[in-house]
Parts: sequence; structure tokens; C-alpha cells
Amino acid sequence: MSCLTDKFDRLRATYPPEMNSSLVLPLLHLMLREKGHLTESDAIFIADYLGVPAMQVKEALTWYTMLHRKPVGKHVIKVCRNIACSLMGAERIIDYLKQKLGIEAGETTPDGRFTLLLVECLASCGTAPAMQVSDTYHENLDEARIDHILKELS
Ligand code: FES
Repeated sequence: MSCLTDKFDRLRATYPPEMNSSLVLPLLHLMLREKGHLTESDAIFIADYLGVPAMQVKEALTWYTMLHRKPVGKHVIKVCRNIACSLMGAERIIDYLKQKLGIEAGETTPDGRFTLLLVECLASCGTAPAMQVSDTYHENLDEARIDHILKELS
């Protein structure tokens, strides 16, 4: 963890000392990039490092869907299932992705390439249905767009 705490220290140095609480999310993201997923022990480690209540870090860890709490594949596909996307066919898109990938929501393909997750609003309601693959948004989805996106990732 010493390499990680060095990175923590560098990030902490950019914040005012009285702003430790503001470092919870940045440190969770930093740790996620290093480890790929986060555990309750990681949350406690960050809480101890910052001197904040463990519950504060655990709350953040369990609230945000971008903070993976179990191992994920190389490409994480997050499909919005909230109201605008549902009205525009999200269920059809989700079923199509399940069929194409051969997995259920929450699972990772056996080759470790894709994880399929269902999330609430991606703030892309005007271009629903939408999904996020790693850091890239894909909008106005239909089966042909899904085929193209998966082909590009293969
Ligand atoms: S409801 Fe899907 S992006 Fe907002």
C-alpha cells in the first residue's frame, strides 16, 4: 500500500488541510484505478487515512455505481434503465445485450472482456436510450448501434 499512500499523499497535498472529507471520492476513484474494484476494507483504509468516520467512506462506496465492489471485465457496459431510457426502449436494449454477451446483468463474460451493469439515470435523457462503456457515452441506442459498438470493442 506504500505506493498507493504516496499517491494519496500527493493528492492530499493539493487540498486544504481542513477539507479531508472532500477527498473521500477522489481517493476512492484513485484506489479504484489502481485495484479495479473496492472492498469494505479499502473504505476503512481510506477512512483511517483521512481521519473521517468509516461510515462516510462506506456510504460513498455503496452509493455510486461507478465504484465497482467486485471484479469487472475489461469493458464495463452500464445501461440506463431509468424512466426516459425505459420509455425509449432500454429493456429491449438490455435484453439484446444479454443475448449478445451471453450473460445476465451484473455478470462478466467468461473471457473477462465485458461486464454488464444496469444503472439509474446517466444524465443523457434527451438522447435515450443511453449506455456508458468505460468512460464513453453511447446514445440513441438500437440493435445496430449495439452491434457496431461491440464490434469496435472486440
Ligand atoms: S433516464 Fe436514461 S439517461 Fe436519464
